[in-house]
Amino acid sequence: MRLIVLNWKMYPDSLKGARHLFKETVKVLKTVRGVRTVVCPPAPYLHELAGRYRGKAVSFGAQGVHGELRGAHTGEISVLMLKDARVRFVIVGHSERRAIGETDEMVAGKVGTAVRAGVTPIICIGEQVRSDSGEHFVFIKNQLLQATSLLAKEELKKVVIAYEPIWAIGKSAQDALTPALMHEMSIYIRKVLAEKFGREFIENVPILYGGSVEPKNSGALMHGGDISGFLIGHTSLDPQALKEVLHSL
Ligand code: PGA
Repeated sequence: MRLIVLNWKMYPDSLKGARHLFKETVKVLKTVRGVRTVVCPPAPYLHELAGRYRGKAVSFGAQGVHGELRGAHTGEISVLMLKDARVRFVIVGHSERRAIGETDEMVAGKVGTAVRAGVTPIICIGEQVRSDSGEHFVFIKNQLLQATSLLAKEELKKVVIAYEPIWAIGKSAQDALTPALMHEMSIYIRKVLAEKFGREFIENVPILYGGSVEPKNSGALMHGGDISGFLIGHTSLDPQALKEVLHSL
């Protein structure tokens, strides 16, 4: 089963637009099999879309969550609210959130809270730049170990890892990671997790790739990247391009 996460980011501008995009997305999803899809709309649309939807083609995800279950945290959303809205997934540690202050420590707290509440965190990791000396591997290892620092090994069954190199986000297919480099990173991510938690649950942790996934590169990445699926940003706003991506898997 492939896992595809659609990150709408701060789009579209209205509930009407969100309803339309959702309807078109569901139409596209009905044309493919063997794909589990998680739609992550902006928070104001989440309750409405998830509350009305009765089909099986999609699950819902939030784009963020607070690390505590409740409290005086202006502007924040709790995992209990997400559960109440029938939301099953949440993106944590996205580079666009890290850029405005989400630290590794906060990511760890959010991951722990989400897992224990029964909402699956999609843990984003990714380096800013790549260097020939391989420093990005050290960076990824640190991010991964920090993000999972509050988890027990059985809890690994309840997380998704999304490798999103920052330099590849929001560009186009030719700027994205190559399948061979994704393959290498998938092996590395499993190795880091296995060293820490043992091998038992590692094979079941879905590893996704994110960063300029488009119809031009999706097939090659899926087949050569040793991944379970994708975290898709801008292409998720274009149902026709999304359809081509899904049919390339
Ligand atoms: P992109 O975004 O597909 O537009 O590069 C991916 C992401 O940031 O999650």
